[in-house]
Amino acid sequence: MDNTTPSTVSQPGTDASAVGFDWTDQLALNDPLFDATHREFVELIQALHRADDARMLEVVNTTIEHTEAHFRQETTLMQLHGFPPIHCHDGEHANVMEVMLAVRDRVAAGEAHYGRVLAAALMEWLHVHVPTMDAVLSAWLRERGLEESPQPAGVPDAPRVQTG
Ligand SMILES: [Fe+2]
Ligand SMILES: [Fe+2]
Repeated sequence: MDNTTPSTVSQPGTDASAVGFDWTDQLALNDPLFDATHREFVELIQALHRADDARMLEVVNTTIEHTEAHFRQETTLMQLHGFPPIHCHDGEHANVMEVMLAVRDRVAAGEAHYGRVLAAALMEWLHVHVPTMDAVLSAWLRERGLEESPQPAGVPDAPRVQTG
């Protein structure tokens, strides 16, 4: 079964009813690097949720750019410090990116509503991924004396959110 089509993210609807679109403490890892990136991600998801059809492709592209930097940042930390379950964590990221790219194609083809479906799906995914995968990575780094997960060299800051 092709699990990359946008229809796979349509099930939760567009209201993220289970989790809403606001930042919640469930997403806080008390790790400045992770938390700053995840707060930016939530701001972009909110922008996706609010975007009108005319701006949707732009916001989807900005969200993809930010997410690529976000995932690359975590992958670099895992590589630098030999995080054992790196492939499991990277696999989750890759699945999300496949869906995002499929949604971009649909939005570019004129189906802007998929951007709002994506927003709801991303918010629900984030509430599963951060307290599990990212929490384990953050805790693992701290156990090795890498508190506050320093920004790895060569990894650019995530692009700033343009929500206006
Ligand atoms: Fe993350
Ligand atoms: Fe992650």
